[in-house]
Amino acid sequence: MSSRKPIRKAVFPVAGLGTRFLPATKAIPKEMLPIVDRPLIQYAVDEAREAGIEQMIFVTGRGKSAIEDHFDIAFELEKTMSDRGKSLDVLAPTRLGPGNCAYVRQQEPLGLGHAIWCARGIVGDEPFAILLPDELMHGQPGCLAQMVAAYDEVGGNLISVIEVLDEEVSSYGVIAPGAKISQALTEVTGLVEKPKRGDAPSNKIISGRYILQPEVMRTLEDQEKGAGGEIQLTDAMARMIGEQPFHAVTFDGRRFDCGSKTGFVEATLALALEREDMGPEVRRIAERLLAD
Ligand code: G1P
Repeated sequence: MSSRKPIRKAVFPVAGLGTRFLPATKAIPKEMLPIVDRPLIQYAVDEAREAGIEQMIFVTGRGKSAIEDHFDIAFELEKTMSDRGKSLDVLAPTRLGPGNCAYVRQQEPLGLGHAIWCARGIVGDEPFAILLPDELMHGQPGCLAQMVAAYDEVGGNLISVIEVLDEEVSSYGVIAPGAKISQALTEVTGLVEKPKRGDAPSNKIISGRYILQPEVMRTLEDQEKGAGGEIQLTDAMARMIGEQPFHAVTFDGRRFDCGSKTGFVEATLALALEREDMGPEVRRIAERLLAD
């Protein structure tokens, strides 16, 4: 048994305006757009639950109340379904349990670092996870479960990374890798948010999953604006390197960047093709479309 403090809480920053998906996201939060038949946020919550997270903390904003409704009991719906003899199993993942979810608003879009800082009172003085729902991490075990296993080994702070093409690095946070600890685990010696292609220390990017020590909240407190004029989580983490251990976990699985339209379509297709109930039919449809 590990003597480390368990990771019980996860923060989901979901306050973004989703302008890249307009007009679809004018009245619906981006995180509620479905990949096949589950909203994007559900994939991240399921991944967190699988990793042993007990409390889900959503950093929301105006116009995001559909997320709260999604993780609540829908009495009329459930009553009607029960009266008609329909199974409620399909709704089970949307149940978070009394007191197991918390919502806090980020009032202004000041950046990811600021969004995380808005959750400081609920996170308190314990290590916690962060999941960016735009990044759909598809693996067995899930990405956060892989990270929790690594955390049991090395503790400290952990970031999930994947390798991308050189021309893609400038859209992400990038790590400077240090010593290799094991097949999946590498020390992190530096971090830079959205570097120019030539300035990137590697092509290993932060893929939206973090396990961080609570000190990051104090670092974020006086974090100055960085890339894009926003308060960046990456910059705060970079300042902690040297004071606290930082490791990168290379994700063993498939990752879809659902923050982009093509990534969203790719995820939809890939997950539909994998499904027993519809995979063969979707394959036939895709083949027919490609042949046209
Ligand atoms: C954020 C992080 C970045 C990370 C990315 C993953 O960027 O700041 O470090 O690589 O998510 O998707 P954003 O997508 O908010 O620009």
